[in-house]
Amino acid sequence: MPDASWPVLAPLLQAATAGRDLLDDTLRRLGPDAVTAALLAEIGEVEHDVRLDLHFDGVTTSHLRTGADLVVSLDLADAVRTLYGTERRWPSLAVSTPSAGLDEGGVGAWFRARRDYPAAVEAVLTALRPPQEDLGALAVRFGSDKWGDLHWYTQHYERHFARLRTEPVRVLEIGIGGYDDPDSGGASLRMWQRYFRRGLVHGLDITAKPGVTGPRITTVQGDQSDAAFLDALGTRLGPFDVVIDDGSHLNDHVRTSFHALFPHVRAGGLYVVEDLQTAYWPSWGGAPDGGAGTSIGMLKSFVDGLNLAEVAGPRVNGGYVQRNISGISFHHNIAFVEKGLNAEEGGPEFLRTLC
Ligand SMILES: C[S@@+](CC[C@H](N)C(=O)[O-])C[C@H]1O[C@@H](n2cnc3c(N)ncnc32)[C@H](O)[C@@H]1O
Repeated sequence: MPDASWPVLAPLLQAATAGRDLLDDTLRRLGPDAVTAALLAEIGEVEHDVRLDLHFDGVTTSHLRTGADLVVSLDLADAVRTLYGTERRWPSLAVSTPSAGLDEGGVGAWFRARRDYPAAVEAVLTALRPPQEDLGALAVRFGSDKWGDLHWYTQHYERHFARLRTEPVRVLEIGIGGYDDPDSGGASLRMWQRYFRRGLVHGLDITAKPGVTGPRITTVQGDQSDAAFLDALGTRLGPFDVVIDDGSHLNDHVRTSFHALFPHVRAGGLYVVEDLQTAYWPSWGGAPDGGAGTSIGMLKSFVDGLNLAEVAGPRVNGGYVQRNISGISFHHNIAFVEKGLNAEEGGPEFLRTLC
């Protein structure tokens, strides 16, 4: 799917946490209709027979079940803040039943119509602000194998991604799933979309995936072993806060993808490599010792890169990768590479020869 709607979504996600003047200006610049369309795509079906009236700049538009008697009214900017903001908040809202008059059914009918008010408000608010679930629960809900099937990755993802959860992140995952079926896959993209409520989520797969869609999901067809293609992709869609390699898991593909995409990761972002078991399997391009030439061999070499400033002999600057990795974490079959300046000074010369 093309990312044609993101010229609206990207600024909206940023403006949702800004002051009200800036948010209102953004809504005017993007156009309330485009903003409303993005908001409705996000909330999807609401499980209540309710009409949603959105107000902005003195204009009211009606949505969801427009024929319903029960109307929940929201200020558009406030609805955007509830959807994409970082605090749990109540938007300013009003509920009404314009068609329930005293003349039809008397006082009893008038009161009965109001019994549904809390449920209607709850349905709209839950659609705007679904409960925050942990990644394990989301993996199960969306059918991702990142937890509870072949792998137990979500505990590690939680730990490394928690600080990014409420940020307007850009995520790229290599490997959408479903292999050569264009309509299947996307489990983890849906999981990330829900986990990162303000995140834009891109998936890359060798197979086109027109059937994998979502309000903040786009899919791209391409080969992760094609460095020039990945570089162009990074220029077009990045910089990324998170890149996850869950593609072919062939060792030379993993290495090529890392070197092509790591420059497109933002400082403070993370590059994740899954399924590192293939580094030990010769038929996948690995070696039993996980040495040079394997995916884990590449990652292990970055550990020495972290401490390059301490290496004896003439001071070396290191390459781009060495100068821009600030941390690495290894867990069973998965590694997280943190992007950040690796520019600390090494120990002074006299200390090196003290003992
Ligand atoms: C394990 S699945 C991804 C699962 C998905 N990330 C999830 O967690 O739901 C691996 C995917 O990588 C794709 N793939 C295989 N080789 C590839 C390549 N060279 N470039 C891009 N994608 C590739 C496959 O088509 C498959 O859909």
